[in-house]
Amino acid sequence: MPIKFPDFTVTDKVAIVTGASTGIGYGSALALAHAGADVVVTSRSLERVEPVAAEIRQMGRRALPLTLEVTSLDSIDAMVKRTVEHFGRIDILVNNAGINIPEPALDVTEEHWDRVLDTNLKGLFFCAQRVGRVMVAQGGGKIINIASQMGFVGGRLRAAYCSSKGGVVQLTKVLAIEWARYGVNVNGVAPTFIKTPFTARMFEDEAFSQEVLRNIPLGRIGEVEDVLGAILFLASPAADLITGHTVLVDGGWTAW
Ligand SMILES: NC(=O)c1ccc[n+]([C@@H]2O[C@H](COP(=O)([O-])OP(=O)(O)OC[C@H]3O[C@@H](n4cnc5c(N)ncnc54)[C@H](O)[C@@H]3O)[C@@H](O)[C@H]2O)c1
Repeated sequence: MPIKFPDFTVTDKVAIVTGASTGIGYGSALALAHAGADVVVTSRSLERVEPVAAEIRQMGRRALPLTLEVTSLDSIDAMVKRTVEHFGRIDILVNNAGINIPEPALDVTEEHWDRVLDTNLKGLFFCAQRVGRVMVAQGGGKIINIASQMGFVGGRLRAAYCSSKGGVVQLTKVLAIEWARYGVNVNGVAPTFIKTPFTARMFEDEAFSQEVLRNIPLGRIGEVEDVLGAILFLASPAADLITGHTVLVDGGWTAW
């Protein structure tokens, strides 16, 4: 039998990226466009994703900037409706929007707990559900949930964050099982510490940077580019038989 070589492209696929104005979301949007996709770039503020859409159009792909507040079901529904009206389908969702409020467990307020869980877990779930309904109806799609190594290991000052990301890892398995019969693959990517606006303030603390580096066998803090290969792979036909899995991009942190 001749070997059919793996296809790592996403040519002419329609992708949505949540939280696409900065960091891993911004990188994902550009990487998907580079690999051939048309991209819906979403953010709480339209002005912040309009330049990202312009960049994607300059790469020769179509782009649609839309507002999205992941803690609002109305906002998610409006974003999905506009996407389907504009592109007619959704092939890929990079469920990326997320926050962290680092603080000791003894001090976590109900308001902070709810804000982290509502964004990272509840918001991510309802984005997956609303997009999942479109994918199920059209007979397939790829969902990539951005979890964290902190969904696998504990971390000081991260009671709500680790709980939310552990939830993302588990949720990824459930959705994968439920939607496999419809041709919808649901996987996760779990990065270690990556240099983005999200972590910039943390790394102003030299002792914290050293502590992080001591935990990464590969000996460096990640760049956004380090995460993009796993996201693209899971979005591509090369990953058609992979579902329910969360790929750690952690420089070996969890291998100790
Ligand atoms: N940077 C890291 O070290 C790291 C490590 C592991 C996981 N992650 C995860 O990667 C994802 C992206 O993080 P990043 O590092 O690129 O940070 P970032 O702060 O640059 O990006 C987060 C994005 O989410 C958006 N967002 C936040 N709350 C939102 C809401 N309620 N509705 C809509 N959008 C919202 C922000 O506007 C921003 O664009 C997050 O889920 C984060 O938990 C980051």
